[in-house]
Amino acid sequence: MKKQTLNLNINGEDFELRIFPNELLVNVVRETVGLTGTKYACGTGQCGACTVLVDDEPVLGCMTLAVSAAGSKITTIEGIAEPDGKLDPLQDAFLKTNAIQCGFCTPGMILVGKDLLKKNTNPTENEIRHHIKGNLCRCTGYNGIVRAIKKCRDDMAERNL
Ligand code: FES
Ligand code: FES
Repeated sequence: MKKQTLNLNINGEDFELRIFPNELLVNVVRETVGLTGTKYACGTGQCGACTVLVDDEPVLGCMTLAVSAAGSKITTIEGIAEPDGKLDPLQDAFLKTNAIQCGFCTPGMILVGKDLLKKNTNPTENEIRHHIKGNLCRCTGYNGIVRAIKKCRDDMAERNL
């Protein structure tokens, strides 16, 4: 198998990469591009740690060939803060509600949380729990994570975002 050229747009930046056609998106993002915020855990589509956004939709990087993302807009956890470094409101809510322990699940959780709040600006607790059900956390018991998403929901409503 030969390497091929792949053009990817990640966090608004264009990358011209030389990769094998069977390389997974999570590995290309982490190892070829060096964005290690995206995590690799189960490798079998079970945990959500490898979640990135492809054209604003959550995708499991361990189940996605990098070549399939050519021409799409990829967003990783490194790409959601403001250009001046100001945290995304959901990142801020995770910090303020102590929703992070080891942090391994956090990038995926934040990206699916953002996806939920984009699609539903006023989710109930049940809707939040349902939306994050594909993302596993071995530390927090989920309550802090749900609290963070609720806080972000309420902060956004207050600021009319
Ligand atoms: Fe991709 Fe677990 S590493 S779902
Ligand atoms: Fe450790 Fe969620 S904070 S896996």
